[in-house]
Amino acid sequence: MMKLSLLYILMCLMMLFPTVTHGQVRTLNILYTGGVVGELEPCGCSPKTDFGGVARRAGYIAEHRKGLSPYILIDAGNFLGKDTPQGRLKAEAMLKALSIMKYDVVAVSKNEKEFPYNFLSALLKKYKLPVISDMTKNRQSVSIRRDGIEVNLSTDPKNFQEGKLNILLSDMPIAEVKGLEKWDVIILSSGETLEEPLIPPHPPLIKGGKGGLHGTVIVAGYPKGERLGILTLQIDNKGRLLNFKHRWHVLGRDIKEDINIRKILKDYDAMVAKLLKDDYKPPVEVSYLGVSKCSECHQLFVENWMKTRHASAWATLERAGKANDPECIKCHTIGFGEKGGFYSTKTTPMLAGVQCEACHGPGRDHLSDFSRPMQPVTESVCLECHTKITSPDFNYPVYLEKIRHK
Ligand code: HEC
Ligand code: HEC
Ligand code: HEC
Ligand code: HEC
Repeated sequence: MMKLSLLYILMCLMMLFPTVTHGQVRTLNILYTGGVVGELEPCGCSPKTDFGGVARRAGYIAEHRKGLSPYILIDAGNFLGKDTPQGRLKAEAMLKALSIMKYDVVAVSKNEKEFPYNFLSALLKKYKLPVISDMTKNRQSVSIRRDGIEVNLSTDPKNFQEGKLNILLSDMPIAEVKGLEKWDVIILSSGETLEEPLIPPHPPLIKGGKGGLHGTVIVAGYPKGERLGILTLQIDNKGRLLNFKHRWHVLGRDIKEDINIRKILKDYDAMVAKLLKDDYKPPVEVSYLGVSKCSECHQLFVENWMKTRHASAWATLERAGKANDPECIKCHTIGFGEKGGFYSTKTTPMLAGVQCEACHGPGRDHLSDFSRPMQPVTESVCLECHTKITSPDFNYPVYLEKIRHK
């Protein structure tokens, strides 16, 4: 009895201090993103491309926090998209999300620098994000101590520090960073995809030797944050890298979203909706007529079109809560962004959905002279909306068959 409980206590101790019993080997997880380019969440147009998004990323980390610890959460840069009015709203939502996820360090790179400095720095301050960058106004490096491991994180390839675990965050292309020899880990945000970590052959990889694992492990943030990178490092007590494992966590529909982040996304949607002005006046000479006009003379075509999914494309957006998002509207309506095209539900409701004129072109000229041919419908018309991301299964003859309306 006595012996058993002693053994039990010993086992518990071993579980508590695995690092001690395994000869000073420590494990540290590097959770990383990079090159997210403002992707707050995927459009959901196809289950085959429905990956990523900050709500799932946060949900996954929150649910597995214990198992992932100790970890450092890093964004290697290019987390923002374009500097447009909507892009700025996105930027704020993105930074809010990163701060809720408690990113340990975020690298400011090319995309972020496209935004005015005052705008960006105000947001970074507001959400208290630990930032590094190669701009003189920012810190280039930061030191983090996690579970007894000293980590130097830097955007400066020259700022390597002896005696620490060294991680470089960069948006340089893979070809350029291959030559950097001293760094233990390099995380890229250039948008290039590395399915597996890259270990350049110089200097040769010597595992477990006196100096640990000589060589650099290069990884790259999965484009648009569709997956979370998890690099598990084994480190000796001098901070030297002994070994590593790598895996992706695919952020699919199965992941439970973080409710706080979902709230941020809802607020973002509400702000985006305000970009569409209620007092917008459609031009008097409308070039798009809308399906109700076409039905006056092509009733059979309209009835058949009603049976296709194009007719419910607007309802789809409403269901997704995205009927006021210009980035979605452009493919789920007709003529968005053009004079006389769809503008908003309030101002141009008759042009919502993928109507006749999405393929046949604006109908105004047709109405004044039926003998004038409409825009010829070719595959390239479809491809403006059926892209690799929105419609990965697109196949022209197959899809054409499904929308026949004669
Ligand atoms: C580049 C054009 C394009 C953009 C932009 C776009 N969509 Fe789509 N969407 C499509 C196409 C095309 C399909 C049909 C894909 C298929 O089935 O092959 C689709 C399908 C969908 C579906 C699936 C409908 C169903 O019942 O399966 C949803 C939901 C959706 N889109 C929502 C959105 C949202 C939300 C946005 C904005 C964040 C958006 N879309 C932006 C083109 C687009
Ligand atoms: C203005 C954008 C746009 C254009 C142009 C467009 N589509 Fe679509 N298409 C969509 C959207 C959006 C959906 C999804 C509607 C939904 O389900 O809500 C869709 C859905 C479809 C579907 C249903 C997919 C399925 O799996 O059942 C077919 C088929 C299709 N489109 C064929 C075509 C073909 C063929 C063309 C060209 C001749 C074309 N589309 C042009 C936007 C467009
Ligand atoms: C997704 C694209 C798309 C949409 C939306 C669409 N059409 Fe078409 N339409 C086509 C294509 C492609 C053809 C040629 C089909 C064929 O070759 O059989 C066609 C053919 C036609 C024709 C016959 C032309 C001929 O040569 O006889 C008429 C009329 C027509 N469409 C009217 C409409 C009307 C009205 C609507 C709206 C209710 C509509 N279409 C919606 C793509 C579209
Ligand atoms: C007032 C009646 C009328 C209305 C409204 C009308 N059409 Fe037509 N359309 C015709 C007639 C008549 C023809 C046949 C012309 C011919 O064969 O020379 C025709 C032919 C077509 C054709 C086949 C010829 C071609 O050039 O491709 C398409 C496609 C078409 N219409 C689409 C539309 C669409 C889309 C709308 C709505 C925006 C529309 N039409 C509205 C009367 C109408």
